[in-house]
Amino acid sequence: MKQLLTGKFRDGPFIGLEYQTPSQNGVTDQDGQFYYEEGELITFFIGSLIIGVAIGSPSLTIANLHSSSYEKMEDLEPTCAETNNRARFLQSLGREVDLRSGVVIDDATRKAIESHAKGIQFLSSIKEFEKAAAVCGVFRELGLRLRGAAEVRNHLRRAFQGIKVLRDVKVLTRDGSYLIADVFLPIAEGSYPVLLRQSIYGRAFQTGSVHNEAEMLASEEREATWFEKSREELNYYFRYSETAASANSSTWVPQGYAVVRVDARGVGKTPGTLSVFSQQEALDYYDAIEWAARQTWSNGKVGLYGSSYNATTQWNVAALQPPSLHAMAAIASDADAYRDLAYPGGIFLKNYRHWWWKESVGPARNKNSDTVDFVAGLEDHPWDDGHYHGHGQDAILSADFSKIHIPVITAVSQTGFTHGRAGFEAYAELPSTAKQLLILDAAFPEYMFVDCQPDLESFFSRHLKGLVPDTEKSPVRMVMRTGGGAFEWQNATTWPLPNTEYRELFLNANGATTIGNITSHLPLQQGQFTYSADVQAAKDLPTAIFESEPLTESLELAGHFRATLWIASTSADADVFVAIRVFEGVKEVHYQTRAPGTGAPLTYGCLKVSHRATDAVRSSKERPWHTHREEDALPLLPNTVVKIDVELLAATGRIPLGCRFRVEVSPAEGPGAIPGWERAYDESYHRGAANSIFTGGLYASSITIPVISG
Ligand SMILES: *[C@@H]1O[C@H](CO)[C@@H](O)[C@H](O)[C@H]1NC(C)=O
Ligand SMILES: *[C@@H]1O[C@H](CO)[C@@H](O)[C@H](O)[C@H]1NC(C)=O
Ligand SMILES: *[C@@H]1O[C@H](CO)[C@@H](O)[C@H](O)[C@H]1NC(C)=O
Ligand SMILES: *[C@@H]1O[C@H](CO)[C@@H](O)[C@H](O)[C@H]1NC(C)=O
Repeated sequence: MKQLLTGKFRDGPFIGLEYQTPSQNGVTDQDGQFYYEEGELITFFIGSLIIGVAIGSPSLTIANLHSSSYEKMEDLEPTCAETNNRARFLQSLGREVDLRSGVVIDDATRKAIESHAKGIQFLSSIKEFEKAAAVCGVFRELGLRLRGAAEVRNHLRRAFQGIKVLRDVKVLTRDGSYLIADVFLPIAEGSYPVLLRQSIYGRAFQTGSVHNEAEMLASEEREATWFEKSREELNYYFRYSETAASANSSTWVPQGYAVVRVDARGVGKTPGTLSVFSQQEALDYYDAIEWAARQTWSNGKVGLYGSSYNATTQWNVAALQPPSLHAMAAIASDADAYRDLAYPGGIFLKNYRHWWWKESVGPARNKNSDTVDFVAGLEDHPWDDGHYHGHGQDAILSADFSKIHIPVITAVSQTGFTHGRAGFEAYAELPSTAKQLLILDAAFPEYMFVDCQPDLESFFSRHLKGLVPDTEKSPVRMVMRTGGGAFEWQNATTWPLPNTEYRELFLNANGATTIGNITSHLPLQQGQFTYSADVQAAKDLPTAIFESEPLTESLELAGHFRATLWIASTSADADVFVAIRVFEGVKEVHYQTRAPGTGAPLTYGCLKVSHRATDAVRSSKERPWHTHREEDALPLLPNTVVKIDVELLAATGRIPLGCRFRVEVSPAEGPGAIPGWERAYDESYHRGAANSIFTGGLYASSITIPVISG
């Protein structure tokens, strides 16, 4: 006698499904198992309805089923109508949204199907099938919903990849409330390390929340489209990961991780007050981490993975030291709530923050929940006060790196509109001995999701699975931008790089009315360059421009830049924007990569002059650190010259011989600013005012550039 083999459906289990082979017949058992002999064809049916025929195998999916045994027994595509119809029919017999315990075919189901069996045609088109009276009749009688075509394909595709999903799981919090999560697990039972992220953007595919059936089906459509069609048309931020900027379940689950996505308080179906970057949010995050560690499917080790908001909030929870948190990957984060998130250089990221709050956070909110008005909080606190450090009503948090001892991989998007500072600060301050810094470019998603995927994989497998990689990654890996959109990857042992020479280049107004000079020695003679502070009145952005002679050597730059300016204004304050650009003849060399045509400078920065007080201890030669405290406010006296240090974003760039530097100083953002995301512009001290830059002699106005010596 031949050996009896057992099989099961990965997209099931389907329990109570009848089957017949030349040697066997029966009904799939409690575990959805069926029996067959090697090489046999199995016919599956429910009463007189033939579901399909497959070659016996320990692991089947609905895509293995065919209408008759005469066809070629190749797997059918989930998009093929026949498979889609079968999957829709069988999956819709299940009662749970996520089908976590499969589909049970009981007597009631059998009875409802039997009375319509003749009219059920799996070989019809998707549209005909869903409209067929027989099909509608079955589900009406059972009081069940015929699942969406995209929805069932998604379930089937996950089964191919060995993934099962638990939807709308309740995560209890210490105050007796709960958060709602989706969990993606390997189908094979086991205990797995967890990659978790708690967020405010919702668990719907790409972004958003599901508040009703129409939104659920739309999310399923987006998911199916993402896997089945080209992603080229998609927004850059959604092209590289299932839910922009957090772990792909399709990438990580097959590698033996559980991926958990939690909706924060006040998001989607999670009750409570939405309060972004708050202490409450960090405590909830802590509870979610410890919850995940206790689950039977978890090995007790949790890692955090995400970018942007999903990165920034990691610092806040990591500083609370949840015991089960073993590693974190904060990609393109902010950390200092005042300097990174709200007021870089003391100038409010006004339009961006309004846009983010309305367009990005708004749609995912729980419509029945209260919300702490984050933007109003920022507007009420124009100086760096307790509001940014967890003190007071509706306060938000800044990272406390000194409390984070776990392994960290962090990425910074050099010269990014946001996320261009925190990674450097983190790398310098984290006491953790296992830390890695990735220096990407402003448009970070492709770098993060494609180029750095191996870095993330080896990081998590080391710290959550205990697997030591064959080759050690360098602690610092960076995108060296070489001009014209090109770049190369470089390794470094430290940041700033050990062989950095900070070179000071002096501005020279030189009596010029259009373009001043940049020289390597402090000009002896004093000069002055005056420009309008009134952006509205001027047709083009008024700027003071300084240019160097063509370089006589090529330069490799990597590190922090700064500008030191002696400045006066006719009014009581001034906004100073400094951009460094590179020109080859009259043509600008653009350094930004993977974002052609941005007009972005090599590096830039800004400062509101009344915020010029610096902290001597926290400032370093590469980077001034402004206190931004109200008690340190230094208003301008009209026409009185003061010295300011402007922090310019760290950047990389290889500047060829013969190119020239150009420094532009302007009263508002120049080309490269993103329309609709402009910073605050305070008419009261711009209108009708003029600013002057003083150079040479006692006024050593300069820029400092980080030159890497070969
Ligand atoms: C954070 O993660 C959520 C869910 O994965 C995603 O929808 C959102 O776009 C991410 N946020 C950012 C700013 O990347
Ligand atoms: C997500 O999956 C897609 C498709 O498999 C892949 O192209 C992309 O690089 C993945 N991204 C991440 C972050 O794993
Ligand atoms: C960086 O270091 C890795 C080893 O960690 C090595 O494989 C790679 O070739 C190096 N890259 C460069 C550009 O030197
Ligand atoms: C100063 O700038 C002017 C105008 O751009 C230029 O013609 C001249 O060569 C520069 N002189 C020096 C000493 O750099």
